[in-house]
Amino acid sequence: MKKIIDLHIKEKVYKKKKTQLSILNNFRLEVNAGEKIAIVGESGVGKSSLLNIIGLLDKDYSGEYTLFGSLTDNLQASELAQWRNQKLGFVLQESALINSLTIEDNIKLPLHYAGSRKKEFKLEDFENVINAIEIKPILKKKPLDCSGGEKARAVFARGIIMKPQIILSDEPTASLDVDNRERIVNLLFKMNKEFNTTIITVTHDLEVAKLHDRVIHLERSK
Ligand SMILES: Nc1ncnc2c1ncn2[C@@H]1O[C@H](COP(=O)(O)OP(=O)(O)O)[C@@H](O)[C@H]1O
Ligand SMILES: [Mg+2]
Repeated sequence: MKKIIDLHIKEKVYKKKKTQLSILNNFRLEVNAGEKIAIVGESGVGKSSLLNIIGLLDKDYSGEYTLFGSLTDNLQASELAQWRNQKLGFVLQESALINSLTIEDNIKLPLHYAGSRKKEFKLEDFENVINAIEIKPILKKKPLDCSGGEKARAVFARGIIMKPQIILSDEPTASLDVDNRERIVNLLFKMNKEFNTTIITVTHDLEVAKLHDRVIHLERSK
């Protein structure tokens, strides 16, 4: 088993005007390649903050984080950006589609950011993703002409299009009906099975959480 995440957060502090909020106190997480992890916990406990830290979107915390065998403190900004683009797939709550672009162009955005480094990407990957989540009929539509479920699937497709090694999802099924929820979860697990992709899912849905190898309960710091 190859350990790809070794994270120890001493503390994450959000400073407010007069007070400060300290979360994720002494939180440890170790994840092996190919594991499926669910993160649950009440609203405000720090689930999204944790995903931001795991996903290299937030470096402002005390602690140590080794990702893919490298201490993240030692990584250059350009390396961090490249990892975020190519090794990590994000399906985050606040992920928004760009309304002036078609669904297809939205999904392909990470490829444009990757520029000349997209060597590993093949057109058939795009086709596979498109077929698996059945969004072919809406590819030429703009986001404003799509339903909530269609948009959620497009955000998801964009998150996995680069075939990342880790997929970080924040409540990926929250706004979806049963059919769409199943589609998203099935696709996450298919990525896991076919490519050994590590899955980290924040969810309120205990049925969804139970399908993972491990469920981590975040609790409020005392
Ligand atoms: N940018 C921020 N500035 C200040 N406080 C924040 C910020 N982001 C989150 N918080 C606070 O940190 C706590 C954890 O937030 P969050 O990680 O979003 O929790 P969860 O995803 O579990 O609901 C909450 O109390 C929230 O209000
Ligand atoms: Mg959240």
